[in-house]
Amino acid sequence: MRTITIPRPDDWHVHFRDGAVLKSVVPYTARAFGRAIVMPNLTPPVTTAAMAAAYRDRILAAVPEGVTFTPLMTCYLTDGTDPADLVAGHRDGVFTAAKLYPAHATTNSHFGVTNIAAIRPVLAAMEKAGMPLLTHGEVTRADVDIFDREARFVEEVLLPTLKDFPGLKIVMEHVTTEEAVAVVRAHPGRLGATITPQHLLYNRNAIFQGGLRPHMYCLPVLKREKHRLALRAAASSGEASFFLGTDTAPHLKHLKECACGCAGVFSAPVAVEAYLKVFAEEGALDRFEAFASRNGPAFYGLPVATETVTYAETGRFIAESVEVPGEGTLVPLFEGETVGWARSP
Ligand code: DOR
Ligand code: ZN
Repeated sequence: MRTITIPRPDDWHVHFRDGAVLKSVVPYTARAFGRAIVMPNLTPPVTTAAMAAAYRDRILAAVPEGVTFTPLMTCYLTDGTDPADLVAGHRDGVFTAAKLYPAHATTNSHFGVTNIAAIRPVLAAMEKAGMPLLTHGEVTRADVDIFDREARFVEEVLLPTLKDFPGLKIVMEHVTTEEAVAVVRAHPGRLGATITPQHLLYNRNAIFQGGLRPHMYCLPVLKREKHRLALRAAASSGEASFFLGTDTAPHLKHLKECACGCAGVFSAPVAVEAYLKVFAEEGALDRFEAFASRNGPAFYGLPVATETVTYAETGRFIAESVEVPGEGTLVPLFEGETVGWARSP
């Protein structure tokens, strides 16, 4: 039986939501990861340092006794974001980064940025302050096919932004295509990328496997097999630009299994195990430490964890949905399946 011991990993892209859902999901991430970049797409979105500080307190209150966990907060950019407020929040240690949601790209993105030109002063201030920009990298125009949205974002938004703001650090979140992998590789040190477990594990056939599979629906949507293979090669390469970011995105079961279901895969209860499955299949367990524990902190200029964790190649059955008292249940990735790795002891 193989085992792997690595510095405690971090999750560089997480949705915790708020209220009862937050209380139910935070413990899963906090037990597995030392730090997490927390997405700001609440209702209303987290647009000020005061809102982020209050949200951070609600997250910390949900961390189980005896567990150490640091939430790293992000600001939701809008057309009206004030550059001075934003960089003050960064300077004061509240904001680690800011998130660009193109308007209408995904869950709660309707307050997002309508045109990147609207936030040029914000990007200039972030560049000067050394504050990273995290992007949901999809264009949202109705004439662009949903499977092409990411590649079009690279051409129309990302490349011009890299050119216009040469000192701005950018993370392309949840990359899903070979085009995204290529542009990240072409800009080492300036452009990083998170990769989710679902985009490494499945191609777009999974959404339609024997019927419509709402729990396989996330944004950006799963892509063709050639893209999945490009992502697996990038993640398992150990290259510094690629790091772990689950995009765990809990939505109550009844809001996914309905006529207009929400986008998101809830992977927090099995996230490290899901990535280990991929790295084991790729024969790249020796590079998992780079992806999970080293590349992210290096990009963000943070120290690598001193604590270590061990995972062993033993089966764990993922039996149950996660209860959200008074609201419903959450269906985790791998529900009803056995995952081949488990935390030890
Ligand atoms: O599938 C997704 N769910 N993708 C996103 O970009 C947002 C997320 C959410 O917040 O539900
Ligand atoms: Zn996300």
